[in-house]
Amino acid sequence: MRLKKIYILGESGQLASCFASVKREFPNLDLQFFGRDQIDFERPLDPQFNWNLPPDWIINTAAYTAVDLAETEHELNWRVNAEALLELSNWCEKHNTPLIHFSTDYVFDGENQVPGGYTEVSAVNPQCEYGRAKLQGEMHASRYAKALIFRIAWLYSQFGKNFYSTISTKIKAGENLCVVNDQLGCPTSGMALAYDILDFIRQTEVDDVEFGLYHYSHEGKISWYDFAVAIQEELKCEVEIESISSDQLKMAAKRPKFSALNSNLAEQIFQFPNREWRRELQDIIRE
Ligand SMILES: NC(=O)c1ccc[n+]([C@@H]2O[C@H](COP(=O)([O-])OP(=O)(O)OC[C@H]3O[C@@H](n4cnc5c(N)ncnc54)[C@H](OP(=O)(O)O)[C@@H]3O)[C@@H](O)[C@H]2O)c1
Repeated sequence: MRLKKIYILGESGQLASCFASVKREFPNLDLQFFGRDQIDFERPLDPQFNWNLPPDWIINTAAYTAVDLAETEHELNWRVNAEALLELSNWCEKHNTPLIHFSTDYVFDGENQVPGGYTEVSAVNPQCEYGRAKLQGEMHASRYAKALIFRIAWLYSQFGKNFYSTISTKIKAGENLCVVNDQLGCPTSGMALAYDILDFIRQTEVDDVEFGLYHYSHEGKISWYDFAVAIQEELKCEVEIESISSDQLKMAAKRPKFSALNSNLAEQIFQFPNREWRRELQDIIRE
């Protein structure tokens, strides 16, 4: 089988670290990582892509992810999450390079509990600046016919700063916690996501890919409070976890109260395995 070259942008981030961690399982994929020091999304991208040969795929994990700060760091959020995506997809189009990009559940308002979760055709209505810029970014990317955009939600892993890493550190330190109980969604393992995407690239020819927008999620629907309790149970540590409402936290950015994503379409098209959130949490804890 031919060695496929994949360039991953956003090297130091959580999801890129997951790709780096699972790459040993894909000897036929040559993954190369690029950080902000090589490709800075705040500057025009085209002159920074000085590669002699384009890769077989580009996977973009770089993003401005400070959801609350985005309410005030308007320019930076829109530059990195929206405008840069237009330049990135234009470059990919010019060099006929397929692109994978990630968007977010924050494109939805979460006002209604959609049975089965939001689908790819559900109406979007972001309630925060991060969600608005990410929506514009996915719209820019989707203008390119060879772009695959995966909306993901509640991403966590053993890498970087995320809900799981913060909560598990506190639980292990014996700290009592207050966690919101009025936002419902599904935690998504970055390791499972990275594995499923590389496995799909490994076995698929570009001409056979059904490009477009998809939801990627695990099976289940829980609150952040439920997730914290599950982490505690799996770690077998005893701390008190108090359930509170989002209003008590006074976050700058409004989050959707419901953001479960329906990933049936992606599972059908890409043969992604149907993964249950609790099993994935157990896997991450075992890692
Ligand atoms: N985390 C979640 O819960 C979640 C949920 C839904 C969707 N997503 C999406 O999933 C993707 C991956 O998220 P993640 O959790 O891996 O994010 P992350 O850990 O915050 O990583 C983001 C990466 O982007 C890089 N970056 C930021 N500004 C940059 C710039 N100006 N130029 C170049 N690189 C820059 C960061 O580099 P530095 O380290 O140098 O800042 C970092 O490597 C993103 O598209 C995010 O929007 C995440």
